[in-house]
Amino acid sequence: MSEKTKLVIIGLGSRGKNAYGTELLTLQDRAEVVAVADPNEERLKIGGDEHGVPAERRFRSAEELLAQPKLADAALICTQDRQHVRHAVAALRKGYDVLMEKPVSPLLSELQEIVRVAREEKRRVVVCHVLRYTPFFHLIKETVDSGRLGRIVNIQALENVRYWHQAHSFVRGNWRRSEDTSPMILAKCCHDLDYLIWLCGSRCEKVSSFGSLVHFRPENAPEGAAKRCLDGCKAKETCPYDAEKIYIYNKDTGVLDGNKDWPVDILSENPTEETIREAIRTGPYGRCVYACDNDVVDNQIVNMQMENGAALSLMMCAFTSIGGRTIKVMGTMGDLWGDMNRNIIRICEFGKEPEIIDLGKPKNDFNDHGGGDRGLILSFLDYLEGKAADSTITTLETSIESHLAALAAEESRLKGGMPVEIAPLRG
Ligand SMILES: NC(=O)c1ccc[n+]([C@@H]2O[C@H](COP(=O)([O-])OP(=O)(O)OC[C@H]3O[C@@H](n4cnc5c(N)ncnc54)[C@H](O)[C@@H]3O)[C@@H](O)[C@H]2O)c1
Repeated sequence: MSEKTKLVIIGLGSRGKNAYGTELLTLQDRAEVVAVADPNEERLKIGGDEHGVPAERRFRSAEELLAQPKLADAALICTQDRQHVRHAVAALRKGYDVLMEKPVSPLLSELQEIVRVAREEKRRVVVCHVLRYTPFFHLIKETVDSGRLGRIVNIQALENVRYWHQAHSFVRGNWRRSEDTSPMILAKCCHDLDYLIWLCGSRCEKVSSFGSLVHFRPENAPEGAAKRCLDGCKAKETCPYDAEKIYIYNKDTGVLDGNKDWPVDILSENPTEETIREAIRTGPYGRCVYACDNDVVDNQIVNMQMENGAALSLMMCAFTSIGGRTIKVMGTMGDLWGDMNRNIIRICEFGKEPEIIDLGKPKNDFNDHGGGDRGLILSFLDYLEGKAADSTITTLETSIESHLAALAAEESRLKGGMPVEIAPLRG
């Protein structure tokens, strides 16, 4: 029997422990988590226990783990946006292959650094663009590549962030400030820019972008709004962003209907009505959405001119009731429309009857990215085991293209929509 792939997980949060850690628990015949690192004691204990990691291989930080001799074949880097490159570079220097969370980095200098180090160390780096690994995007890519739609002229994509997801992650939560993490177009949409480039089969030549933070500002607070939802807010009844509605009562996201996963697991390691109420009462997720220190946009449009002549557009918007991506691909011989939330794709070759493909409801539509988290882990293991080629996986070189498009889009947005060329960013 061939040896199991050995892994270390660095960062035992929502991604490291809950998403990939959970998937790996079901793949123990192929892979073994041999060490973990996180400064959060509770997460370190739960993550360590789940994978049966002995006490001497549970570390308080990435730095501590990476100071040890190499412990595994690959390192999963699941820390926060601004830590990824530092941790990944140290892991590469130690001889690990790396699976790293997106965004790689919001800094061009760091993007260049990691590409250089991966080449110097001759190590493999895969970036977690989970959407590519979903049956939904697989089918769209397959259809485009089959030529049924002819030459692709336009793609229109919409990232429906969903009102409560915006409030949770980008107003109250970790990704609310561009300087601390990443601009929204990188944090939320590097996945979208990645699949657009992939579907189009061409690099991006230039972008222009508009967008702003329209709504989640102090001047938009309704009359009688309190600074915290539980502090006698008089606007509570009519406010859809009320923390109690989102984390306690909402049938998809609230703890009362039995949800123990995201987003309530971000408020407490043990989500019950009591622990969630306490988190809302005292923590960041109970703040009024009009009284946070947020600055990332709540809507943005990116127009992309591709090197092969296609023109693409991506719209990201907070103000949607349903999440997931919707997409329309328009070719010279047919078009394709897809709704990731419903997992339905309609393909129509011009002059023929449309074909409607229902891929079935994913088991949990917003916790596992439509099957993408599992697909990514399976593909990464295949890749490490030599069963998958570079072209089938989101390598660092591939992923960088989406990051450059995002950085260019942010520059364009800040300059009032001025077109920004990508080539100079490639260096
Ligand atoms: N691929 C995707 O679809 C996707 C989805 C959501 C988030 N993300 C990205 O994944 C990353 C992690 O997000 P998350 O939601 O899991 O965040 P999180 O805050 O839940 O987890 C990060 C963990 O890193 C730990 N940490 C901090 N400093 C550390 C250090 N020095 N050494 C080791 N661990 C350390 C924290 O204690 C925390 O437990 C972010 O960059 C985020 O943008 C990716």
